[in-house]
Amino acid sequence: MVTIDPQQFNETMDYIRRYYKDTPQIGIVLGTGMGKLVEAIEVERVIKYNFIPHFPISTVESHFGNLIFGKIGDKKVVAMQGRFHYYEGYDMFQITYPIRIMKLLGVKALFVSNAAGGINLDKVRKGDLMIIEDHINLLPENPLRGPNLDFFGPRFPDMSQPYDAEFRALAKKIGERMGIPLKEGVYVAVQGPNLETRAEYRFLRIIGADAVGMSTVPEIIVANHMGIRCFAISIITDECDPDNLAPLTVEEVIAVAQEREPDLTRILAQLIKEVSV
Ligand code: HPA
Repeated sequence: MVTIDPQQFNETMDYIRRYYKDTPQIGIVLGTGMGKLVEAIEVERVIKYNFIPHFPISTVESHFGNLIFGKIGDKKVVAMQGRFHYYEGYDMFQITYPIRIMKLLGVKALFVSNAAGGINLDKVRKGDLMIIEDHINLLPENPLRGPNLDFFGPRFPDMSQPYDAEFRALAKKIGERMGIPLKEGVYVAVQGPNLETRAEYRFLRIIGADAVGMSTVPEIIVANHMGIRCFAISIITDECDPDNLAPLTVEEVIAVAQEREPDLTRILAQLIKEVSV
C-alpha cells in the first residue's frame, strides 16, 4: 500500500523558502540535451536537488540536479535542470514530487520539453518540433495511484484537455512569426529504457500516437490534478519506421536534440514572456 506523509511537503517547502521567498508563476522541465533555456533565465537562486529534503536523489544526471529560480522577461520562473525518469528506477511519486512542490510555490503554468521518436511519419519527421496536443499513457504506474492528496486536487481528475489550448495557439502564432514550423500531435509515454521493437512501433501508430518518448506524461498528469495549465513540446529526434528500422543510439538522439535546441529555446522563452497566467 502506498503511504504518503503530507508533512514532507512542509519540510521541503521550509527548506526552499529559506533561499527563495518569491512566488514563481511558471514551472519549467527541460528534456535531455535541452538545457539551453536555462541561459534565457536571469538566475536568482540555484538549489541542488540533493540538498532539498525529500527530493529524489538524482543519479544519471546528477551534475544537472538543480532547481533554478529566476526570471524570463517579467515572469518569475522555477526550472528543473535535470528531470527524473521512470526507467531510472524512481517511483511515480518521486518523479512528480518536484511538480507538487512547484504548485506549493505558487506555479500556475508548466512548460515541458522532451526528445521523442517520430511514429506518424505522414505528420512528423526527424528534426521537427511537435507541440503535444494530447497523450497516451502506457507507463506501468499512474502518479495519482494511492491515497488521493485532497489538498492538491480531486480523486478522479478530468483529462479532457491536458494541454492548454490557449498556450498551444499562442505557441503556433509565435512559431509563425519567427519562421519556425511547429507540428502538433499525440505523444505516447513508454517506460523504456530500451527503444521499441518494429512490432511495438506498428502498435503505437495504430493506437493513435504521433511520437513516442519516456517522460513528460507523469508530470502532466500531476500538474492537471492540481489545476496547473500545461504546455509540452517534443523535438523529433528519430524516425520510427518499422519497415526500414535502422539501429538508433542515444548519441544520435542527443545530437538531433542539440541541433534543434536553439529554435525550441526561442519558442519557449518567447511563449513564457507572452503568456498570461
Ligand atoms: N522511442 C522512445 N523514446 C524515444 C525515442 C524512441 O524511438 N526517440 C527518442 N526518445
